[in-house]
Amino acid sequence: MTMPRAIYPGSFDPITYGHIDIVRRARKLFPKLIIAIVANPNKHSFFSVGEREQITRDALVEMGINNVEVTSYTGLLIDCAHKLGASAVVRGLRANSDFDYEFQMALTNRDLDSDIETVLFMTAGKYSFLSSSIVKEVKRFGGDVSSFVPSSVDQALTRKLAQA
Ligand code: PNS
Repeated sequence: MTMPRAIYPGSFDPITYGHIDIVRRARKLFPKLIIAIVANPNKHSFFSVGEREQITRDALVEMGINNVEVTSYTGLLIDCAHKLGASAVVRGLRANSDFDYEFQMALTNRDLDSDIETVLFMTAGKYSFLSSSIVKEVKRFGGDVSSFVPSSVDQALTRKLAQA
């Protein structure tokens, strides 16, 4: 029986150790895992979608995680899942504050397409506070984010802030 293909959608603006933790956990159940970076115009992002794809690829290489595909999508998550032939959507839960949002998205997506199941992975406790926005905030004010993101991501943040 071939394992279903799974997508791990998100903004990844940028990827953090929290996301890497979820990738490692999800890979154990879904050997065919695709990170799908959203490129929706209405959501302003710090990095462009192209930058986020490259940063994510570089981070996976740095963390020694191979054969996880990285792609981007616009529009609906379920359409992206269909296009990629994925029947599972992977998302990470940090604290109960995430649950309402994930629950709403999961049930909405199931209503839109009953073939798609959302699978939520509990993040490691040590990353339960972590988010891309807090990393950018700390970095913006000169803080050390080396325990939050891989060094390739840290360097990308430094470069991007130097452009600003
Ligand atoms: O990293 P994020 O911002 O929590 O990811 C949220 C994301 C991108 C997975 C979600 O906003 C999404 O899938 N947007 C695409 C449009 C869509 O399908 N919206 C309905 C989701 S129920």
